[in-house]
Amino acid sequence: MIYADNAATTMIPDSIVRKMLPYLRDQYGNASSQYSFGMQAKKALEESRKRIADGIGVVPEEITFTSGATEANNWVIRDVVEKFSNSTIHIITSAIEHHSVLSTCKELEKKGVEVTYLPVDCTGKLSVERIASAIKPNTRLVSIIFANNEIGTIQPIAEIGNFLRVKNILFHTDAVQAVGHIPLNLNHLMVDFLTASAHKFNGSKGIGFLYRRKDLNISPMLYGGEQEFGLRAGTENIAGIISAGFALEENLYEMVSTTKRLKSMIALTLEGVRSKIPNVRVNGDLENCLPGILNLGFNGISGESLMHLLDLKGICVSTGSACASGTVHPSHVLMALGQTEQQAKSAIRISYGRFNSEKDVEDIVGAICDIHQKILQYQ
Ligand SMILES: Cc1ncc(COP(=O)(O)O)c(C=O)c1O
Repeated sequence: MIYADNAATTMIPDSIVRKMLPYLRDQYGNASSQYSFGMQAKKALEESRKRIADGIGVVPEEITFTSGATEANNWVIRDVVEKFSNSTIHIITSAIEHHSVLSTCKELEKKGVEVTYLPVDCTGKLSVERIASAIKPNTRLVSIIFANNEIGTIQPIAEIGNFLRVKNILFHTDAVQAVGHIPLNLNHLMVDFLTASAHKFNGSKGIGFLYRRKDLNISPMLYGGEQEFGLRAGTENIAGIISAGFALEENLYEMVSTTKRLKSMIALTLEGVRSKIPNVRVNGDLENCLPGILNLGFNGISGESLMHLLDLKGICVSTGSACASGTVHPSHVLMALGQTEQQAKSAIRISYGRFNSEKDVEDIVGAICDIHQKILQYQ
């Protein structure tokens, strides 16, 4: 099998599994227990929090572990709304957010919250000017994805943060695809809340975190215990938390060489596909993009079919389309770039990770070109 869907999830390497195993097997103590067996788990948990905090340039007290980014995104947005519940508040977000942000905002709209979904340009980029022109007197929160999960486009988060801090408007960024993949230091970014997920940077599924600037209050996500500074009750997923800390540390250590390899693999993929399919379309912005993501559109071909035919050859890629009740809906991200429904439905996303090789690239390019030719022949 060739796995080229690392934006969906990533492999946990042996180095990280080895760090997790003791906490699944021998050191299974509850981090809240008062005897030393439990306290060892608590110590490991706090060390992991420190690793995460160091990795993004903040202090450990600013990190709260969650079950993932969906939970953390829901939590932040809903909490800000709750805090200002005595007035009608306005939130600004973009049209290309992950559904965990978009669906939360849609739910809040039903409760009277005003939401602006900002358009992006044809490469998926948002400008500070767009945000500035959308601000209203009751704007309390801006939530912008750091780097998009379908096309990889990176947003000008530093610029947006500087602008919003002056305006005294809270700024949240969903940094799921950025953390562990591109340099990110919150010391230099005016961000109030940031969310991330370990399974996107070679950690375990079911663990993520919320960064919250230390002088900001947030109400508990869950009640029932004093875990996570009393903000998220429930027995902690120690093995998952351990995986998050070590995986981030390892990815950061490898980042320079990984980035170089991924960029070269993306360039080779594009060159290979273009040599046989000259009219292939790149969705996004190759210059301002996550190093491992390539979203391609194939005129007159269904991305869904291409994905399934690649699957038959043992190759995993994805489409941004969503299937609901048997109907394929085009990706909201590609539609926001101004594409037609047909164009949006013709796309596949290849996302390479640390463990892909040049041989994978060769096989993927060969398979895409081969399938493309066959589909055209039979159409
Ligand atoms: C940009 C982005 N935000 C949020 C999420 C949700 O993360 P989790 O799987 O941890 O709930 C994802 C996962 O696909 C994502 O890509």
